[in-house]
Amino acid sequence: MARLTEAALDTAELAGKHLVLGLSGGIACYKIAELTRLLVKAGATVQIVMTEAATQFITPVTMQALSGRPVYTSQWDARIANNMAHIDLSREADAIVIAPASTDFIAKLAHGNCDDLLSTLCVARDCPLLVVPAMNRQMWQNPATQRNVAQLRADGVQVLGPDSGAQACGEVGDGRMLEPSATFEAICAFFQPKILQGRRVLITAGPTFEPLDPVRGITNRSSGKMGFALARAAAQAGADVHLVAGPVALETPWGVYREDVQTAQQMHDAVLHATADTDIFIAVAAVADWRVDHASEHKIKKTADHAMPTFTFIENPDILATVARLPNPPYCVGFAAESGNLEVHGEEKRARKNVPLLIGNLGPLTFGLDDNEVVLFEASGITRLPRADKKLLARLLIAEIAKRAPRGGSLLS
Ligand code: CTP
Repeated sequence: MARLTEAALDTAELAGKHLVLGLSGGIACYKIAELTRLLVKAGATVQIVMTEAATQFITPVTMQALSGRPVYTSQWDARIANNMAHIDLSREADAIVIAPASTDFIAKLAHGNCDDLLSTLCVARDCPLLVVPAMNRQMWQNPATQRNVAQLRADGVQVLGPDSGAQACGEVGDGRMLEPSATFEAICAFFQPKILQGRRVLITAGPTFEPLDPVRGITNRSSGKMGFALARAAAQAGADVHLVAGPVALETPWGVYREDVQTAQQMHDAVLHATADTDIFIAVAAVADWRVDHASEHKIKKTADHAMPTFTFIENPDILATVARLPNPPYCVGFAAESGNLEVHGEEKRARKNVPLLIGNLGPLTFGLDDNEVVLFEASGITRLPRADKKLLARLLIAEIAKRAPRGGSLLS
């Protein structure tokens, strides 16, 4: 199988998807330039349709340049051969996304009004509809708006956001449009099969940091990319995801609850605190095996006689083995990075940690890289997956885990 790089997966993520991206009037129209760029970069074809009000905030010329397709703004546009733009534009679409969705446009949708091209397209569609609200906080909180949004949800429309925070009008509250990257992530998630719907997944990721003194410590080269990619893939598959992360410089994946920790002991405590609410536990973190017995309270200084500092190490708790030993454990998945003889060490480690599934990395050199090659160890034998970009691999692994994890959560239930 061909090797997929990060760039290749980015290109492939929405490949083959055709979206109608409808802009209604609002200052958040500026965010749609970036959203369009992200969608096009991910391989989607994007057909822009704008209301008259939207053209006051961003020009059709800009949107045409970014989408690479003609932009439609009027239901009387004669460019479509049979003059049926309101029907034809959505017929090939996998979804219509309204972003930004203004208060007025949401009201129109809730009542099935169609007095312009975009609202008519929505009423005449035969594909899913996603709306991304953007408005002042009072307009969002208005009972009429809340009724209209509830009606849209009841009609099966996906409502993405809104966000909370500073608004263009200077006020602060709910109603901001999601950022372009968050909207993009929500659209990608919408297209993924919900194979983990209703399941609660707990993931550890990244390295741990064990202090020697206030400025030094022991850590390792884990970047956290694999664990974060698994958290993203699990959330896209519909799971409720709790990510316990060691010190890494990565963005929290869309829809994931993240808890940051530093040391192995903190990671252990955070995980043990969360396991009762967990169906599937995936231990991806590269946990430090040892810590210094008493880290120095003050910075350790060099001495005049050049004496080397000495440290006493004690073993850190094995988080995965501890969870797997619980009386009613979640379905436990371990990872193993070995520098050699993976087939022997992988199965030995799986049996020793008493977990049903262990994923073996082919070599520690995968640390920090964007792709990876893994082997699945189970009591029944070994399965090899092809080398792939970590995001794509994460999706393949989540599919393998979803097939194996018993419904109802615990192995014993
Ligand atoms: N793990 C853990 N807690 C630890 C050590 C490891 O939860 N204190 C988990 C890792 O997250 C991984 C699996 O156990 O899922 C295997 O980790 P690895 O570092 O490969 O194995 P170790 O148990 O540390 O064994 P060794 O370093 O001797 O190979």
